[in-house]
Amino acid sequence: MLNSTIISPSLLAADFSKLDRELERMEKAGADCLHLDVMDGVFVPNISFGVPIISSIRPATKMPFDLHLMITNPLQYIEVFAKTGCDMITFHLESQSDPAVVIDAIHTFGKKAGLSIRPGTPAEDLLPFLDKLELVLIMSVEPGFGGQKFMESCLSKIRTIRNHAPNLRISVDGGINAETGKRCREAGADMLVAGSYVFGAENPAQAISSLRK
Ligand code: DX5
Ligand code: ZN
Repeated sequence: MLNSTIISPSLLAADFSKLDRELERMEKAGADCLHLDVMDGVFVPNISFGVPIISSIRPATKMPFDLHLMITNPLQYIEVFAKTGCDMITFHLESQSDPAVVIDAIHTFGKKAGLSIRPGTPAEDLLPFLDKLELVLIMSVEPGFGGQKFMESCLSKIRTIRNHAPNLRISVDGGINAETGKRCREAGADMLVAGSYVFGAENPAQAISSLRK
């Protein structure tokens, strides 16, 4: 682990009736970026939010945007999402796409490219793409909903990726709290996505610093 751990709170757990206040709360609490879960109701059994919401909150905060596309056809949407002002765009290996082509499209728009795997996908499936990526996102829950229980199986996947890519950013998403986050960092992760643990905290600054300890 070369860099300090990046903490990326997931907006999915925010109070959507007070988004500007929620963004300010995260920025003040020391979040490094904001994780944005886009769901199409096909790739995952849930629908969240898309381009209009992301574009409208972009001017409201300085935090970089860490986009997590849980959608069936990412290639079709890279350009519109890139234009919202996202900094990192992560899509799923299990989506219906040629990963190398999607990664190139993300880079064409000057964004960092991330590739994610669901709990049932082996880490080895990511290996052919590691050289082209800035980020790998290991799901520690089945994608689709916040507030689920952390799945231990992500730990050995983090170790596998870290062994192959000593300098790659490795993020983990789902069921992250101080305890599970520590185990992910020990396995080699250097970025943690946390929704309910951070947004649901009375003191989000304390929650964020507990994820770094
Ligand atoms: C799940 C999303 C996660 C989710 C995490 O599909 O990708 O980012 O919001 O929520 P918690 O931290 O509550 O498990
Ligand atoms: Zn996510």
